[in-house]
Amino acid sequence: MEQLQSILTTALTEMAEIGSLPELEQFKARYVGKQGAITGYMQKLKDIAPELRKEFGAQINAIKQEFEGALQRHRSAIEEQELRAKLASEAIDVTLPGRGTQQGSLHPVNLALKRLIEIFAALGFGVADGPEIECDYYNFKALNIPENHPARTMQDTFYTAAGNVLRTHTSPIQVRYAENNQPPIRIIAPGRVYRVDMDATHSPMFHQMELLWIDKGISFANLKAVISDFMRQFFEDDSIQVRFRASFFPFTEPSAEVDIFFAKTGKWLEVGGCGMVHPNVLNYMKIDSNEYSGFAFGFGIDRLAMLKYGVTDLRLMFDNDVDFLRQFRGI
Ligand code: DAH
Repeated sequence: MEQLQSILTTALTEMAEIGSLPELEQFKARYVGKQGAITGYMQKLKDIAPELRKEFGAQINAIKQEFEGALQRHRSAIEEQELRAKLASEAIDVTLPGRGTQQGSLHPVNLALKRLIEIFAALGFGVADGPEIECDYYNFKALNIPENHPARTMQDTFYTAAGNVLRTHTSPIQVRYAENNQPPIRIIAPGRVYRVDMDATHSPMFHQMELLWIDKGISFANLKAVISDFMRQFFEDDSIQVRFRASFFPFTEPSAEVDIFFAKTGKWLEVGGCGMVHPNVLNYMKIDSNEYSGFAFGFGIDRLAMLKYGVTDLRLMFDNDVDFLRQFRGI
């Protein structure tokens, strides 16, 4: 019994050091498991004289109960400690200030596009769309740019393996739309276009917008009026002057380049190309050029957005730098 008592004393000292439940279970097995030290004494009972068994049995039991009682208390203590640690680690300090919300902003290209659509909707223009992977026919041929025509080299084209192109301008949408709609036609066609080009003023992907108005009796006067009015509205500046410089495009005749003059900078800036739709193009559109005429205008949306918002490097428009984009909040 003395041996057993000292085993209990050692066990209780050892137990005090244990800090986790799995360790405690291992410890328990060493004393009261099948091969346990205290269990061993129970098994030895049968070797004791029968008249002493009852007394010894009761004493061993008492020690085992004391061990188990201590074990149970220690287990509860560990559990409580673990719970407290868990609660502390998951605690939320509701008195801390909030993280705040981040307000997003529209990209300047989208802001400009929104404005363009509003202006032209008020002038009676609808919005048309077309594919970015375009076939040679719409990107070139139906725009009066036949194979081997030098105008094809004006635009450094991306070709796909299947012989299609990434559209080099939004002009193919003119033909696609006119094929399926009878005059009067009055549309704008904004979209992404692609060219093999990249520096501070060129990006391999950029945005253009096409304008097409076909009806009876449409003249260059209409073209000048619409473009001038649109520029003044877009830049919210009635003093803007618009200049038409004679030029060449295969799909228009006559053709002109459009320049605008800002009093602020005192400079003329080229913003796009325009002209009266070429009779060959009207033919491809299956529109009778004796009965109808029309004008077209094409310009870079990015370019216009940069002028409007004072952005000087085109690359900024495509970097997706959040500090840059944030400046367009709430515009
Ligand atoms: N498609 C021409 C380009 O990307 C721009 C252009 C010029 C469009 C004259 C037109 C136009 O509609 O009439 O360079």
